[in-house]
Amino acid sequence: MSEVTQPNGPGVTQVQCVRGARVASVASAVPAQIVTNQDLEKRVDTTDQWIRERTGIEERRIAPPEFSAIDFAHEAAEKALARAQVSADQLDLIVVATLTPDHPFPATACLLQNKLGAKCGAFDLEAGCTGFIYALTTAAQFIQSGGCDTVLVVGVDLLSRITDWKDRTTCVLFGDGAGAAVMTACEPGDGLLAWDLGSDGAGGPLLMVPAGGSKLPITAEAVAEGKHYIAMNGREVFKFAVRIQGESAERALSRCGLTGADVDCFVPHQANLRIIDAAMKRLSIPREKVYVNVQRYGNTSGASIPIALDEAQDEGFVFPGATVVCCGFGAGLTWGSCVLRW
Ligand code: UT7
Repeated sequence: MSEVTQPNGPGVTQVQCVRGARVASVASAVPAQIVTNQDLEKRVDTTDQWIRERTGIEERRIAPPEFSAIDFAHEAAEKALARAQVSADQLDLIVVATLTPDHPFPATACLLQNKLGAKCGAFDLEAGCTGFIYALTTAAQFIQSGGCDTVLVVGVDLLSRITDWKDRTTCVLFGDGAGAAVMTACEPGDGLLAWDLGSDGAGGPLLMVPAGGSKLPITAEAVAEGKHYIAMNGREVFKFAVRIQGESAERALSRCGLTGADVDCFVPHQANLRIIDAAMKRLSIPREKVYVNVQRYGNTSGASIPIALDEAQDEGFVFPGATVVCCGFGAGLTWGSCVLRW
């Protein structure tokens, strides 16, 4: 895989914008059903101790069969709209980041538009667990250009639906949920201060669902071989993640003239406590400024950062005026970071 060598990439453009884009509200929705490490001990050859020591995860939420991505996306979106005091008909655009849409098509964003009663454009984007950062950054471009005033951004994933519950190397890691943010215009130089997005498709095979696309359609044979489930080289993804989160966050911070010392709250992708620790150390951000809830939800993919942001705000980690840094990594391989003035 190639090293990242673009210290001054496209994320520099914020300073040239006529107006800024800010997160006006954030909210989340998770299934009620809790699956603990002890529950998993009964299903696969694993232990609570192994899961805690290697990942920091203690429990996760799993959606019951009658629920799908749209249900959690809708709940999170309704809450975020209410908190921002924005009605659905004021939305100019809906962007949903997901790799577990309700259907291959139509887009979950369109289902959400209908369910909310919004009258605007809507599309899904897929950037693995980095999806929410890609979606938020995309939404901001529409606002900063003057094309949209109010955009709803959702990260939703039900990874339980594409997990092989007999594979101990993956099934202990993931959980289900959704998070949503309403983004609105603000003064230039406020709100989203800088961002960094990246990808390296050479690492695509390290984390993928092999079947279900045009290369390998779902067939009885593909299903019998478990090709419709997540296949991951955990060790390689781990090495990539440990390096990339800190690098990417550092790049985004430097693009707005800040360093780790300026950060009030660091909200990383909630995949693994050891990966979070590595980013925290690289940025020299003290533990008390790092928001962590991986112990309660596991890795919820595109939902992980907005769920964490919602809880970080509830618990006072994120407050008006705070400098907040989010960063993530995932399938693609992809990575991304954003620096927000809250
Ligand atoms: O959003 C992106 C999604 N992906 C990720 O975030 C994954 C990133 N990777 C990781 O978080 C870590 O690589 C894991 C948590 C997946 C694994 O931790 P590790 O320290 O890299 O363990 P390992 O893969 O090197 O496996 C160590 C041992 C192996 O046994 P042997 O070969 O040493 O005998 C595994 O078979 O642990 C074994 N193992 C388990 N043992 C008990 C793997 N999974 C389990 C398990 N319970 N659930």
